[in-house]
Amino acid sequence: MSTISRIGVFTSGGDAPGMNACIRAVVRSAISNQLQVYGIMRGFQGMIDDEFLPLTSRSVSNIIQRGGTMLKTARSIDFLTPEGRKKAYNNLKKHQIDAIVAIGGDGTFTGAEVFTKEYPDIRIVGIPGTIDNDLAGTDFTIGFDTAVNTTIEAIDKIRDTAASHNRCFFIEVMGRDSGCIALWAGVAGGAEAILLPELDTDINSLVKKLEDGSKRNKSSCIVIVAEGEKNGGAQNVANQVKSRLPDYETKVTVLGHVQRGGSPTAFDRILATKCGLNAIEALLAGENRVMIGIRNNKMQLTPFANAVKQHDPLDQSLFRMIDTLAI
Ligand code: F6P
Repeated sequence: MSTISRIGVFTSGGDAPGMNACIRAVVRSAISNQLQVYGIMRGFQGMIDDEFLPLTSRSVSNIIQRGGTMLKTARSIDFLTPEGRKKAYNNLKKHQIDAIVAIGGDGTFTGAEVFTKEYPDIRIVGIPGTIDNDLAGTDFTIGFDTAVNTTIEAIDKIRDTAASHNRCFFIEVMGRDSGCIALWAGVAGGAEAILLPELDTDINSLVKKLEDGSKRNKSSCIVIVAEGEKNGGAQNVANQVKSRLPDYETKVTVLGHVQRGGSPTAFDRILATKCGLNAIEALLAGENRVMIGIRNNKMQLTPFANAVKQHDPLDQSLFRMIDTLAI
């Protein structure tokens, strides 16, 4: 195993609250272990465009509490091509970088897997940073907890106004392929129903459930619709049920990117810090092509290929709670 003396760190894909806390942990842990650190701007795209900057402990001062990512992020199209990856490799060599910590989600690890196969002399370990919580090999991804808390704050506010007007709100939350935010925010926000990409929803049953609630004198209802749900999002679902729910006025709120911003929760800062330290330890131990995860409070390494392939099944017990409690 070759030794490493200089590492690069980048964030890639959708930003997530806690990414800055993670960068801080990576940089300071690397420096504590006598490694030099370069930040690579805008993920794989910055590797291609030669956007490298040396980082010191002071470069990451005062960022643990900030949302977004100081290294910026991108979803690079150029990196999908062999020419793009070759340019990225040449730039890494030019800056004498031996190993990389990649903070991101499934797209990031898919790219990292391809790259390390083509250029095995560069080692990469990944850290799960995405609000979607859709990677296998870790109980939680960095940013998920903050996103859920942002979402329930919005749900609570909408409930106040919904109950005052006897309205039924269809609230669309993020998650193109993952219903995790919808499920957790739905349970924590006391939603009447949740629609997820992973499950088919029968519109007739949904209408019946909401009508039954009205018969039991419910003054409002909240339906959480994940972005990638099969009926086509909150507006489409609302259009389909509107005329069949005479007791409620229906309204739609799309929360959108508000869920990606904001100061990370304590949970996300601690998860980010643990993953950052573990990533440096893993690199020093010679690991490559693995994602750092935390399972039952212990570090776990999962090959990139498995982390992106096997999205952990949704917690069915949480889903069942909605039906039991929304009476
Ligand atoms: O992957 C995180 C995520 O926020 C998804 O939940 C969402 O579908 C997607 O990113 C949106 O991406 P963009 O910001 O590029 O529109």
